[in-house]
Amino acid sequence: MMKDKLKKIKEEAISNINSLDSLDNLERIRVKYVGKKGELTSVLRGMGKLSKEERPIVGQLANDIRQEIEEELSIAKDKLKEKIKEEKIEKEKIDITITKKTRKLGHRHPLLATIEELENLFISMGFSVIDGPEIETVEYNFDALNSPENHPSRDLSDTFYITEDILLRTHTSPVQIRAMKQMKPPIKIVSAGRTFRFDDVDDTHSPMFHQLEGLVIDENVTMANLMHTIDVFIKELFGKDMETRFRPHHFPFTEPSAEVDVSCFECKGKGCPICNGTGWSMELLGCGMVHPKVLENCGIDSEKYSGFAFGMGIDRITMVKHGIDNIRLLFENDNRFLEQF
Ligand code: PHE
Repeated sequence: MMKDKLKKIKEEAISNINSLDSLDNLERIRVKYVGKKGELTSVLRGMGKLSKEERPIVGQLANDIRQEIEEELSIAKDKLKEKIKEEKIEKEKIDITITKKTRKLGHRHPLLATIEELENLFISMGFSVIDGPEIETVEYNFDALNSPENHPSRDLSDTFYITEDILLRTHTSPVQIRAMKQMKPPIKIVSAGRTFRFDDVDDTHSPMFHQLEGLVIDENVTMANLMHTIDVFIKELFGKDMETRFRPHHFPFTEPSAEVDVSCFECKGKGCPICNGTGWSMELLGCGMVHPKVLENCGIDSEKYSGFAFGMGIDRITMVKHGIDNIRLLFENDNRFLEQF
């Protein structure tokens, strides 16, 4: 009877152990079968009823069974611990092969691309690139550049004044003044950036636009140097077959002054409807020999030194280069437009 009971306990215990899934349950099983108040103990308590001969046999069997159950528990415990460890490792594993969401890389705005191309060209010709502020003094923007008090460009209706003495620069030419005041000749710089004029927006005008200024000051600099520099630059930028034409003009800060035309980009000088049959594309840049008064304003001896300056519209050059017919497109930042470059 008792032997059967013991065997049944053992079978039950082993089958329970085999289906264990947690350490908590394992402890519960241990207490249930081999704990102080467990089933095995309670069977042993009833041994008093057995005969003398049976007692040691049943006792031995009970001990064997206890040992067996304890061994099984210990094996199960090890297995469970191993299983928990593996689950933890699996859960904490970092999958380094995972693909992350890629962000689309942009590219330079066509205006910036033009600026960088121009700067690199001038760097290759020995110029340095410098910066100047967009908010300027009236003195640097006009006075030091020899612009008379009554010059139309100084009018309130043409220029964005911030105070009586401070304005948004109307051209990059004040950078000339800054360069000449800060550096000693020989000076050879270019400077590109935003400029501002009180213009209504149309296909070719914007109150904010871009210029690139150039300045060369040294001994014995002549108009021939200016014309050659511009000619080389235009040929590098637009192609060897492009010609330059210098038309007399007036700027307060250069004397003599000229405006430069280049061969029509469409017909390369033959004459077509776009250039009205002239073969020339008009007014790409303004230039001239730096006025002696401007040199003196900056503390440079105009007897010893001379120089030339030029200024060009970067928006215009960008539009001509890419066949863009509306300046607004450059500032609207519509991706459908920008992605074409
Ligand atoms: N600053 C002039 C303009 O904005 C261009 C220029 C620059 C002319 C340098 C001569 C010399 O029109």
